[in-house]
Parts: sequence; C-alpha cells; structure tokens
Amino acid sequence: MFHTMAYMRTFIKDRDVASITPTSPFGVRRVCSNINFDRNNVIIEYGPATGVFTDYILKNMKNGSQLIAIERNKDFKSILQNRIHDPRATIINDSAENVLDALKTCRRSAADYIISGIPFFWLPKDIKDKILYNTHRALKEGGKFLVYQTCFQADHHLKVHLERFFPIVRARFELRNIPPLRLFEAVKCSDRSLVNGKGNGNGNGNGNGSSSSRFPA
Ligand SMILES: C[S@@+](CC[C@H](N)C(=O)[O-])C[C@H]1O[C@@H](n2cnc3c(N)ncnc32)[C@H](O)[C@@H]1O
Repeated sequence: MFHTMAYMRTFIKDRDVASITPTSPFGVRRVCSNINFDRNNVIIEYGPATGVFTDYILKNMKNGSQLIAIERNKDFKSILQNRIHDPRATIINDSAENVLDALKTCRRSAADYIISGIPFFWLPKDIKDKILYNTHRALKEGGKFLVYQTCFQADHHLKVHLERFFPIVRARFELRNIPPLRLFEAVKCSDRSLVNGKGNGNGNGNGNGSSSSRFPA
C-alpha cells in the first residue's frame, strides 16, 4: 500500500514515471528469475521508483553483492534514500544514460545485471541509443540487460533497438500485472557459437525469443 500511494502521487507530477502503479510481485519475481542469486553480483537498477525491485533484490542478493539504483526523479530518490539503509545499496539521482559515471562513483568496472523499467517507448531515438550503448558497455561479458515494459509496445519501440546492441534477445509476457508486461532478456555475448543456439543461447527464432548477430550497432 505504501508503494502504491507514494507511486501515484509522483505519477501525477512526472510523466516519465510512465505507469500508474508499481510492478506486481509476480512481475518482480519473473524479471528477477533471470538473476543468479547464488553468487556475488554487481546489479544496476534503472528507475527504481519506490523500490519494489530494490527490496526484492536486496532480500535475495548475497552479502558480497552490490546494488546501484539510478533514479531520475528526485522525489523517488528521496523516498528510497530515507527508506533503504543497506550498505550494499547505492542510490543515485541521475539518468540511465550516465550509467558509466555511476559505476565509476561506486568503484566498479562493470555490472553482471542491469534491470530497467524506464519507459523506452517515449524516449527520443538519440537518448534511447545512448542508454542502450552505455548499458552494453556497462555490462560484463555474459551480463544481462533485463527490461520490463507495458505490453502495448510494438517491436520498434524497443526490441529492434535491443537487437542492434545485443546478439541474444529473448522476449516474454507477464500477464499478472496491471497492465500486463512485456519482458526482455538481452545478453552481452561476443561468442558467436552461443549466438547460433549453442551453449545457453536460444537462437532458434521460435517466436518466444529471438537472436540476432547484428552486433554491435
Ligand atoms: C514504470 S516506472 C517503474 C518503477 C518501479 N521500478 C516499479 O517497477 O514499480 C519507471 C521509473 O523510471 C524512472 N525513470 C524514467 N526515465 C528514467 C531515466 N532516464 N533514468 C532513470 N530513471 C528513469 C521514473 O522516474 C520511474 O521511477
């Protein structure tokens, strides 16, 4: 209830918040099921808002892990800062395209996972490209960019752009959210054998996921 009230108040003032309610627990668990919590990770979160993902990640990640949350909205940043007192978490008031600066601030060279709920569908193409380019650079080899968006989006809003930067892009839906979500798992991988469907790749183009070798842009 706290999350929903704080969220709706900010939504009225800032169109970049983009969604009227926080992501459902089903959506959070589904996105985070792509994270291997059994090892130490550097995890970056774009657009944490009131922190439904932040809470889940902090609850599940190991003590040697680090979470860097980048929130553009000052009100959300203050809410999070006042609520979260975990030495493993750093909350930064900035925009996602500056992710490399955030890594530098936290004395990290790269991330294992980047999670994003920012509204790609209304970002101008140059900003979208800058975010994707810097996100790709900020990830370790084998690192994953995990994105959740509202399900109304067409492929040209994000999927085709992801495929320009990442050789493996898998798309799914999560219906247990208002509105339902479109989820993407984009893997940074320069090993072409994985891209062609060997190893952990899913390069079969079966409609439930897709792979592309248009890499990098
Ligand atoms: C759809 S909400 C997701 C909020 C929350 N993570 C959740 O799942 O309920 C999008 C969030 O991204 C933030 N945001 C929008 N554009 C951003 C950007 N360029 N960089 C960082 N955060 C951004 C908004 O302020 C908002 O908190």
